[in-house]
Amino acid sequence: MKTLQNQDSEIFEILKGEEDRQLKGMTLIPSENHTSKAVLEALTSVLSDKYAEGYPGRRYYAGNEYADKLETLVQERAKALFGVPYANVQPYSGSPANLVILSALLEPGESLMGLNLLDGGHLTHGWKFSMTSKFWKSVPYHMTVDGAIDMEEVRRLALEEKPKIIICGGTAIPRAIPFAEFAEIADEVGAYLLADVSHIAGLIAGGAHESPVPYVHLVMTTTHKTLRGPRGAMIMVTEKGLAKDEDLPTKIDKALIPGLQGGPHLNTIAGIGVALNEDSEPSFKEYANKVVENAKTLAEELKNKGFKLVSDGTDNHLILIDLIPTGVGRGVFFHEGLERIGIYTNKNTVPGDPSSPFYPSGLRIGTPAVTTRGMGEVEMKLIAEWIAKFAEHIKDIKLPDDKDTRKQVIKDFRASLKNDSFYDEMRAEVEEMCVKFAVPGSIPPVFG
Ligand SMILES: Cc1ncc(COP(=O)(O)O)c(C=O)c1O
Repeated sequence: MKTLQNQDSEIFEILKGEEDRQLKGMTLIPSENHTSKAVLEALTSVLSDKYAEGYPGRRYYAGNEYADKLETLVQERAKALFGVPYANVQPYSGSPANLVILSALLEPGESLMGLNLLDGGHLTHGWKFSMTSKFWKSVPYHMTVDGAIDMEEVRRLALEEKPKIIICGGTAIPRAIPFAEFAEIADEVGAYLLADVSHIAGLIAGGAHESPVPYVHLVMTTTHKTLRGPRGAMIMVTEKGLAKDEDLPTKIDKALIPGLQGGPHLNTIAGIGVALNEDSEPSFKEYANKVVENAKTLAEELKNKGFKLVSDGTDNHLILIDLIPTGVGRGVFFHEGLERIGIYTNKNTVPGDPSSPFYPSGLRIGTPAVTTRGMGEVEMKLIAEWIAKFAEHIKDIKLPDDKDTRKQVIKDFRASLKNDSFYDEMRAEVEEMCVKFAVPGSIPPVFG
């Protein structure tokens, strides 16, 4: 990175800082991961310079012989890995991919069903402030207080509303998604069924989670989470989807371009291709299973230390700690306090959360990134210990209802993060462990 260092030291220093942050801390955010060096090399290639609007063999620009080869190869890899007859690898990311699907299948005002955001859905599954609920009628379903998808409600709402599409999948679901049950309901009301497997796609590819492919018509996944690729997304149509509507691939292709996007990001598509190839290796199966094993170990350890977990555990890569028994709305203290010691998580609502989304009562953690770095049982136990030690340290800090008092309490807490030596000591302990587990893209360190 000498060229960058010499030419633009400001950007270089920022990138160096981020490399250092990733190495000395640990990412427990379940939607994040670390890509391989090969993926990063593909991402920074000259493909970034090329326009390729259109699809292989029918582009609006000249000079696309390699772009055509690349996109066709990556489509084939996606189809082979997931066992589907069609894959579009051009979506810029998961949110536009969901918009593409909805705009391909729904006329304005028609209805969609998705898991409510505050229960673990995604913004693009019809959240009230998302475009997906402005253009279409959103009919959200919910989780039960035990942290299971309320399938009785899904069935009742589907029969009442006859939605054009039902979306299953989300951002904070610690248990396996009941694809077969969803399929029964969607088939009964004649709806398209979309599995948004952004979080669990790597587990599916590695055989550590059931595949939705036999049950659903469409699958959408981001490529940067458990799949360990660059930021991007893919839309796939299944055999069942083709049987319901043989025009689905054409509808998706057209909704993407000219419907929503312009030139595909070829460098990203190359990175996705590299990742998909890695995901088909036997070692990736081991990785996917280890992600789940680590999550289960961490969940058990947290429970042993007295934490309450939504659904009492996990089937996948994700754990949702319900902090309500320690006080409502305390997610913010855990999010910021753990960040201070180099443990990156995120505050999250829990099903039936009495607090606001800005001050939610849960903490969402996951094992994809730490597993990529090679951490295992010993480290999971240590992580649970650190979280418990931190929780004990802040046990008397509660979130007041009154706005002004709340502001002061948060201000005091933030000041304590700077002044209390407890945090320096904890951070040193965390760092000592983390630096033993290299981040794959930074072996050797790129920015020194
Ligand atoms: C289930 C699900 N769908 C869609 C998205 C949107 O992806 P992106 O952030 O790439 O737009 C996410 C990202 O968090 C997600 O978890």
